[in-house]
Amino acid sequence: MKFSELGLNDELLKAIKRSGFEEATPIQEQTIPLALAGKDVIGQAQTGTGKTAAFALPILQNLDRHEKTIQALIIEPTRELAIQTQEELFRLGRDEKARVQVVYGGADIGRQIRSLKKQVPAILVGTPGRLLDHLKRKTIDLENVNTIVLDEADEMLDMGFIQDIESILSYVKNRKQTLLFSATMPKPILRISEKFMNNPEIVRIKAKELTADLIDQYFVRSKDSEKFDIMCRLIDVESPDLAVIFVRTKRRVDEVTRGLQARGYNAAGIHGDLSQARRMSVLKRFRSGKLDILVATDVAARGLDISGVTHVYNYDIPQDPDSYVHRIGRTGRAGQNGMSVTFVTPNEIGYMRTIEQLTKKKMEPLRPPSDDQALRGQLKVAKTKIEDLMKEDLTKYTQDADELLENYSAVDLVSAFLKNLSKDSSKVEVKISSEKPLPYKGGGRRGGGRGRGHYGHGSRNGHGGRGGYRGGDRNHRGGDRDHGHGNYRGGHSRRNGGDHNFVIKNKKD
Ligand SMILES: Nc1ncnc2c1ncn2[C@@H]1O[C@H](COP(=O)(O)OP(=O)(O)OP(=O)(O)O)[C@@H](O)[C@H]1O
Ligand SMILES: [Mg+2]
Repeated sequence: MKFSELGLNDELLKAIKRSGFEEATPIQEQTIPLALAGKDVIGQAQTGTGKTAAFALPILQNLDRHEKTIQALIIEPTRELAIQTQEELFRLGRDEKARVQVVYGGADIGRQIRSLKKQVPAILVGTPGRLLDHLKRKTIDLENVNTIVLDEADEMLDMGFIQDIESILSYVKNRKQTLLFSATMPKPILRISEKFMNNPEIVRIKAKELTADLIDQYFVRSKDSEKFDIMCRLIDVESPDLAVIFVRTKRRVDEVTRGLQARGYNAAGIHGDLSQARRMSVLKRFRSGKLDILVATDVAARGLDISGVTHVYNYDIPQDPDSYVHRIGRTGRAGQNGMSVTFVTPNEIGYMRTIEQLTKKKMEPLRPPSDDQALRGQLKVAKTKIEDLMKEDLTKYTQDADELLENYSAVDLVSAFLKNLSKDSSKVEVKISSEKPLPYKGGGRRGGGRGRGHYGHGSRNGHGGRGGYRGGDRNHRGGDRDHGHGNYRGGHSRRNGGDHNFVIKNKKD
């Protein structure tokens, strides 16, 4: 459907056009008219389908330009997401000169206060902890807020955040509209949300699968100690444009990043212990393509919109199936294709089954590539590099090249050059410390059907069709936050077939 049929004003339509959006996505088509009409809405749609604009556009349209108070509040679970959302609002509201400001932890609060004083924003985006901080200091006033958005709503209403959210809501005395958005919305959370909403319209985009269907999902069976080498070979063969690797712990982020760097990959890591400045600079480099591989805990899993991410590797499978959806959703965004590979150790098969029950999609097995296949992948990249170099001015080198050619054959010289350009990763030994495995939870309903322990020989080779090495792999939820392993709230799935468990988390901004 065209955006012009949704009741949006001309300024916004101009901004939409400038953003390059041609048609509204299904979630936008169905939620924008409801939100414009002032209704409470719960919107659930696949990752990367434009939920941000689905709430941003109606908020921008409904602003009273003459009012000098905060009229809309958007709460985001992470600082990076708060910044990203503020940027999208700013872009879409530029023509109307909408005043949008963002507040998040880890940044100088004094500067935020000065800026809030200088100009009261019409729309405030923030993370819960820092918003509460401002509320307690009385540096923001939410009395006149009409609309509240909980982006990543299931996360915001989960154990770790719910109290903060309730406290924030208590400051919003005249709330008229509440909008909830997420790619995942477990039933128990839906029930909680309905308690503080006013007859919400629930818009769930019926997609065949919960995960974006543009993502090819694979799993690789592997022992923990073998994951690193297999992943390097996969990267060599696939040569992703941009890849995100999710691991379980902060220590793993550091070790995997260092290992990748030692083998010549252009990688950097982010996790909750790094300074905000560091996290932002790594993300900036990744967004601009200066960095090829981002290694992260689940901190980065939700909502981050980085165009051009072609591959997601779940070095560790997530414990929580929702987390899988959000992690692999960093690829396959806005109509692009993507691929995810999840590593599964033999005792984690049960987690994979739980994920598959949620997504209603089976991950295809992927056979680890051989060293030779990995080298072929590297050489392909090396050849492209040579072709690029040939376009440059090489006159400075011809004399030395001639000298070399007198003593060596052209084939030997080019071979040496290729060897130098390819990483030959197997030469650099990397050892990643082992982590406590996830608690065993059985083999799932279809129990252990996929060969026991025959890692390395994808029994169903050929599913993905790329080069015939595909076996299988899968994903794991990162432990950046202190949620107790195995601490499932559970129980809900018995009553509702479509329901699934989720983990109690304890998050603080
Ligand atoms: N109608 C549209 N047409 C094309 N691209 C769009 C459209 N709407 C949004 N986009 C773009 O799609 C990308 C993904 O959007 P967004 O980040 O809002 O997804 P999301 O549904 O919130 O995903 P997640 O569940 O991961 O948070 C963004 O780059 C956005 O600019
Ligand atoms: Mg989003």
